[in-house]
Amino acid sequence: MDINTTKKLNNGVEIPYLGFGTLRSKDDEETVNAIRWAIEAGYRHIDTAGAYGNEKSVGLGIRQSGIERKKLFVTTKLRKEDMLPGEQMKGFENSLNLLQLDYVDLYLIHWPVEGKTLKSWKALEDIYESKRARAIGVCNFTERHFVELFRNAKITPAVNQIELHPHLSLQSLVAYCEKQGIACEAWSPLGGDGGKLLDDPVLKKIAEKYSKSVAQVILRWDLQKGIITIPKSTHEARIVANANLYDFELSADDMKAIDDLDRDPRRFGRDPNTMCF
Ligand code: A2P
Repeated sequence: MDINTTKKLNNGVEIPYLGFGTLRSKDDEETVNAIRWAIEAGYRHIDTAGAYGNEKSVGLGIRQSGIERKKLFVTTKLRKEDMLPGEQMKGFENSLNLLQLDYVDLYLIHWPVEGKTLKSWKALEDIYESKRARAIGVCNFTERHFVELFRNAKITPAVNQIELHPHLSLQSLVAYCEKQGIACEAWSPLGGDGGKLLDDPVLKKIAEKYSKSVAQVILRWDLQKGIITIPKSTHEARIVANANLYDFELSADDMKAIDDLDRDPRRFGRDPNTMCF
């Protein structure tokens, strides 16, 4: 396994397991630099969203890096505000314009929204068929949301991007998604704003044992579980360190010790269980 290792999605498209997250990154020079640093450090998967308001800077960072477009895997997401008839396509096109790209690798519904998700999925299917998104998927779906979606969907989502970290490992949702052929991606893998998991005493002890940081241990745990992960940082040294995950392997006992930290429902973001179609 290395930074280029990919997971094959249910339509054959390959997604790098390690991505670069931009949740809470602003639309400014700092984000442009962060994207450039990430690409220089070897990340080939960049995650943004219409709702983050930073697509322009993400696109600029990509262009400034000079990387060939087809060597990158770029994800963005449909905003809740654009989940209205006729607006979904405009929302998607707006994202492409801001990113200055003519296609994305993955386009996701950002949140399930009551009364709007099924029709929005149809719009994503149209986008996929127009070949402007190489794969389509969802975020923050629970099993119940999938059951509802499957009644109407032509295409099974390729990805479910969810809040997932050692305090919220969602093992049964991950197992369900695996059974359905849906890849799970972890957002806020380090505990969101300020990295709230980085002072967990059990993780600290494990990190000391491997002479790694807590962030590296968490990200390695994701990779060994087969979870795609998208840590965010705007600091160059952290961006580099968070990609330095391939010279150690967590033992089965340490993987279990981290699994045992699950404290569901310890969430740092909103709870999709209380949101419905
Ligand atoms: P910063 O951007 O200032 O580096 P997430 O869990 O959503 O990926 O967020 C990670 C949070 O932890 C961000 O607030 C980020 O802040 C911080 N962070 C990312 N990598 C590291 C690291 N290696 N060490 C300490 N903090 C980190």
